[in-house]
Amino acid sequence: MKALITSGGRGTRLRPLTHTQNKHLIPIANKPILHYAIEYAVEAGIKEIGIVHGAESDAVPKGIGDGSNWGINITYIPQNAPLGLAHVVKISQDFIGDDKFIFYLGDNIVVGGLKRFVNAFEQAKSNCHLTLAKVNDPERFGVPEIKGNRIISVEEKPKNPKSHFAVAGIYLYDSTIFEAVNNIKPSARGELEISDAHQYLLDNNFHVSYSEITGWWKDTGKPQDLLEANRLVLDNIEENNNAKQVKNSSILGNVQIGEGSVIKNSSIRGPVVIGKNCEIHDAYIGPYTAIYNDCTIKNSEVEYSILLSECKIVDVNIRIEHSLLGNDVEIVKAVGHPSTHRFFVGDQSRIELL
Ligand code: G1P
Repeated sequence: MKALITSGGRGTRLRPLTHTQNKHLIPIANKPILHYAIEYAVEAGIKEIGIVHGAESDAVPKGIGDGSNWGINITYIPQNAPLGLAHVVKISQDFIGDDKFIFYLGDNIVVGGLKRFVNAFEQAKSNCHLTLAKVNDPERFGVPEIKGNRIISVEEKPKNPKSHFAVAGIYLYDSTIFEAVNNIKPSARGELEISDAHQYLLDNNFHVSYSEITGWWKDTGKPQDLLEANRLVLDNIEENNNAKQVKNSSILGNVQIGEGSVIKNSSIRGPVVIGKNCEIHDAYIGPYTAIYNDCTIKNSEVEYSILLSECKIVDVNIRIEHSLLGNDVEIVKAVGHPSTHRFFVGDQSRIELL
């Protein structure tokens, strides 16, 4: 079995973070989103992974490498234009050959990995195995109609959804999917829709099975969604303290601390992940916070937030909560007069004040 993972898309809904990086490389709980997909596949025993990326950028091949870190092979498949998920499958036919494969949308995160779906697919001996998650807004997704315990239709972003399920971005296929993607026509938005490929399989009496899943997350629009993904992942971390020094501090719950980090006179309440070479002094770090490498937090409080690398939060006398800071962001106390708030903020940033 092989895996095919997507990493394209412009990530416009996650600006300003995506002005400077591919959204699949943004860290959730200090690990790039795409690493989750790769590690799930590795854990399911897969050794050959194809990653489809926008042909205009080599950020993903450069950022992820050839797979040797994980003891596997990664093949990069450039896509010239974003022509839909079924198009991604279509251009990957040479890479997949006659193998069965998992098609995984790289911006999805699923707690508990993929092995259970591989097993369910093998047991069902079907041509296509879909994963379904209950959602409040099915109209934003591919939506199945279910009768008895069979899927009888799949519609992409329907106005009147026929169930409360979304088809999640984890699909298992045998090579009949290529017949489907080679026969469907582009939708009204000009894309080859993966839901139309599933409908083709149903219309032509191929066997489509499914599993219901929980603990699934995908970027559905707002930057704050990343905080939700971060929470989901942090809920499942284990304690791992590699700090260089911990002095006069209390660390409760599951907390990971990277090498070279120093924690002094502080209180940390997990789940929290702190990267390498951070300095946390006279600070409170509350649950569901991910702090990337080389950050400094002094005399300040942070909770339910994501900080990318080299952030500085110093002498801020209100708790920073529900916040997302890009790389090298500083929030510090203003000194001198006039006593005002001062901002030096990039494009499409957002600040909320009391
Ligand atoms: C895509 C698929 C949709 C699926 C969703 C899951 O939607 O077209 O069927 O439910 O991924 O992540 P998109 O992310 O392109 O809106």
